Amino acid sequence: MSWPLAPGARQPDTPIWANGRIVRGDEAATSLFDRGTRDGGGIFETLRVYDGRPFAWQRHMERLVLAAAELGFPVPPRPSAMRDAIGELLDAQSLRDAVVRITVTRGIAGGRPTRAGAWIDAQPLGARLWRGTRSGDAAAIVSPLVFDLGWMGAYKTTSRMAWDLAREQAIAIGADEALLVSSSGELLEGSASNVFVVKGGEVLTPPLSSRILPGVTRAVVLQLCAELGIPARECVLQAGGLRECESLFLTNSVQEILPVATLDGRALPSRDVPQRLLAAYREHVAAQRD
Ligand SMILES: Cc1ncc(COP(=O)(O)O)c(C=O)c1O
Repeated sequence: MSWPLAPGARQPDTPIWANGRIVRGDEAATSLFDRGTRDGGGIFETLRVYDGRPFAWQRHMERLVLAAAELGFPVPPRPSAMRDAIGELLDAQSLRDAVVRITVTRGIAGGRPTRAGAWIDAQPLGARLWRGTRSGDAAAIVSPLVFDLGWMGAYKTTSRMAWDLAREQAIAIGADEALLVSSSGELLEGSASNVFVVKGGEVLTPPLSSRILPGVTRAVVLQLCAELGIPARECVLQAGGLRECESLFLTNSVQEILPVATLDGRALPSRDVPQRLLAAYREHVAAQRD
């Protein structure tokens, strides 16, 4: 099959695992009838691969399978088949440290699909690290876009435009991430990360009941806080209160724990707690417990 490309467009030659086999170039295409392609009816997982091993595989699979079931998707591929596919993709590109994305779509309406559409790709890690992750000097802004996420906020769906636009605004002014705030002033999360603040020596993060993404890294950080004896809890935070925090940090599977140096151009007083958690996170990853 040859995919008709828009004039001037070029299809990358990256290998993709799609519905059971590795394809490249023109073959790496999805149906225009798939509800994922037409309506953004898809969910995905982004995971980091350390020295050939996907980190927190079980947690990512639980989130994917749960979301597929709750959103009424057809059955996604077996986790063991997806794990094998990742191995094949890494070998095909000789990658050891990588970012893998698993995308599952609602498939084509009308028939009786027993399986969801699915594809997986792997990219070298370096291409995916944010400027602030590489430099250790991350900057964040409070997004000027109002986010009232509603119940869909708890799912990692492929309908990403609002989140992407918020982050692109941050990047355009030299920042790494945009913090999303609701119309009532509640701090929710980053456009591609969960957010934590340190106030009065306590680590605070918005609750899942605010319908934010239940981040895999967020859960690991809360577990590490308990192990290290750092007081931590979920609590509704007002964006206005960010001015009084000692530290602010962001978490996601690729950037890990990102201490924020400046918020809206203002330097934050300390990065001690996030740095300590980052060191513990790296140890946890090295031990590959999940
Ligand atoms: C909106 C949003 N919140 C939080 C996260 C962090 O999730 P995880 O730690 O599972 O990567 C992401 C990851 O991309 C995200 O897009």
